[in-house]
Amino acid sequence: MCIELFSLRDKVALVTGAGKGLGKSMALALSESGAHVAVASRTQSDIEATAQEILENGVKSIPIAADVTRQEDVDKMVEKVLTELNTIDILVNNVGTFLGGPFLEFSLEDWRKMLEINLTSTYLCSKVVGRHMVERQQGKIINVSSVLGMFGATNSAAYCASKGGVIQLTRALSIEWAKYHITVNAIAPYTMETEMTKTMLQDEKLKNIIVSRIPLKRIGKPADLSGPVVFLASKASDYITGQVLCVDGGFSVH
Ligand SMILES: NC(=O)c1ccc[n+]([C@@H]2O[C@H](COP(=O)([O-])OP(=O)(O)OC[C@H]3O[C@@H](n4cnc5c(N)ncnc54)[C@H](OP(=O)(O)O)[C@@H]3O)[C@@H](O)[C@H]2O)c1
Repeated sequence: MCIELFSLRDKVALVTGAGKGLGKSMALALSESGAHVAVASRTQSDIEATAQEILENGVKSIPIAADVTRQEDVDKMVEKVLTELNTIDILVNNVGTFLGGPFLEFSLEDWRKMLEINLTSTYLCSKVVGRHMVERQQGKIINVSSVLGMFGATNSAAYCASKGGVIQLTRALSIEWAKYHITVNAIAPYTMETEMTKTMLQDEKLKNIIVSRIPLKRIGKPADLSGPVVFLASKASDYITGQVLCVDGGFSVH
């Protein structure tokens, strides 16, 4: 049956930044499709709450407190998943944040922070988990970029550069690891309702401008990523690699 292609029964996923927002929503979606899901973020209470909700779907879940910009934390995180859940079939590199401002006033410290959180985290997790996937000659990596990884935006140079980097890392790795049957794809959302965009969306005028640019005429919700992440994590997407799936209400079509 075609629907079986989307099943993640007995698969093991690791989702970074799963304490809230898009990461939490994607972790829950993967568990609803049958995957055991390890969830990581820096705030213990958040990931414990996510893991608790995942357990209610009748699968295993482990919360791991980790800062995925740190090699040591990433090593320990991956070791814990392999010890407790035996393997990692699916890696969702979701961690990311936004720091903006006029380029001439944007400090080197903030520039480095954006690259560390948005790009280096993806490098580190892909490398450590990828080693295991290469050994097993299988795996699915899903990187969360942004439509701002493809388009420019004012006061967003570091974010655009870091998310563009995520897209190019996705494409390069998809080629390098195709021979191991590892697929590497990216999801590129536009504005979604999460804590990251909360302050911005409280500005009604700005919110209306954003909505006016979206053909489907609404801001995205974390649940809008459920179908796309399950698709890219499942057998249904086995012949798709190196691609960027825009989940943006049609914004990028303009
Ligand atoms: N929301 C949007 O409109 C939008 C649009 C396009 C792309 N995106 C991308 O989607 C991803 C998720 O965004 P979101 O809106 O869901 O963000 P969010 O609500 O701020 O959640 C981010 C999650 O990542 C965790 N995190 C941040 N830094 C971390 C680190 N160094 N190590 C481990 N965990 C870390 C946070 O928890 P702790 O702080 O407790 O660690 C939190 O659980 C990001 O990559 C973002 O750039 C979002």
